[in-house]
Amino acid sequence: MPNTTTSISRRTFAKLLGAGAACAVASPRIARAGSLRSGVAAARSAAGSNSAANIVRLSANENPYGPSPMAIKAMTEAFSLSCRYPDEHADVLIESLARINGVGRDQILIADGSGEILKLCAAAFTGPMSTTANRPVDLAPRSRGGAMPAFMPGRGKMIVADPTFEAILNHARVNRAEVVQVPLTASFAHDLTKMLAAASEGLIYICNPNNPTASITPKNQIRELLTKTLRETIILVDEAYHHYADSADYESVIPLVKDHSNLIVARTFSKIFGMAGLRLGYCVAQPETIQRLRPHQTWDSVNIMAMVAAIASLNDADQVTNGHRLNSETKKFVLGELEAMGFKSIPSQANFIMIDVKRPMRPMLEGLRQQGVQVGRLFPALPNHMRVTIGKKPEMEAFLSSFRQVAGIV
Ligand SMILES: Cc1ncc(COP(=O)(O)O)c(C=O)c1O
Repeated sequence: MPNTTTSISRRTFAKLLGAGAACAVASPRIARAGSLRSGVAAARSAAGSNSAANIVRLSANENPYGPSPMAIKAMTEAFSLSCRYPDEHADVLIESLARINGVGRDQILIADGSGEILKLCAAAFTGPMSTTANRPVDLAPRSRGGAMPAFMPGRGKMIVADPTFEAILNHARVNRAEVVQVPLTASFAHDLTKMLAAASEGLIYICNPNNPTASITPKNQIRELLTKTLRETIILVDEAYHHYADSADYESVIPLVKDHSNLIVARTFSKIFGMAGLRLGYCVAQPETIQRLRPHQTWDSVNIMAMVAAIASLNDADQVTNGHRLNSETKKFVLGELEAMGFKSIPSQANFIMIDVKRPMRPMLEGLRQQGVQVGRLFPALPNHMRVTIGKKPEMEAFLSSFRQVAGIV
């Protein structure tokens, strides 16, 4: 069986795990960042380093190649601006995002990661259906950014796929909303017919590509859902992994926002732009829909470093192209190795894969953890599947070597 990684010795494996040791400090988080930054050369030179700090982090779907060099330069130059509120930078970033997405400035809301967008949507559009909780609330005007719109508390159910990215379920539950989980179809798409049937006002959350399955929901099905859904029900399409998707069956729904006042599309700078630690996301929707989100948001929730990095990244044509290419190449390598071992994955349109490990995955998760390899958590709807982020090739070689051991393959 042709297999480049079966020949990796324990010593080489230790070196691979040591990839981040040169950058390691007391905090394992920083050590992980070091391991993500390093390449094959650093992996080789790190032999004999502190093994406790040598963690291969393939658990959070981060971009191992980091932010654009232009973003790092822009941040370095912006340190002295940290004493200022980021008004002008917000204007420039919103202008850029509006232009790139072909929408008006009033159709963009920037946030503290796309996670904040999910929270705002849950707050604005889900909640108990009781009438007493639904009285309008008066709000103070902001010192910048104009008057606050009239505000009504959210109401209605949260409809999600199972499994999907779980953060928004928590936000809805905190909001005392009913959460309905609809299993994915046999092809791991969202079951939009059943999701629509379960909806009443509230919010339908579509994660496309979906986390944790890396699968897509075909574009024609989402278009059909949009035409069938009543305006009172908001549809949030989370496109966090948009830049990794290249299937002919996938499309971004941002161009459809103009026709649907109940459509919100979330995007993040955490994935292909490599800015997970900086925290920046945004959404695109019609102006009135954006206005309904604003009252729930902390004023100035996005920091100036994230903004300058994002503005610079959008000007770096290579960031997306290289990120997509490197992810595809390494993903292909890993899938080939797994296939040779007899393991299949759900077809991936993202920077991670969901492997069918053909047995309860929790003991394997623990086995990998003991070897310093972190993979995705257990997803109860798919107990025999393991979610693994596509890191750099040396990291994936380290993963494959450990995977062989915990799977009992010699
Ligand atoms: C589908 C999805 N949406 C949103 C997020 C949140 O991303 P962030 O808050 O970093 O933009 C993640 C993070 O992994 C995700 O997988």
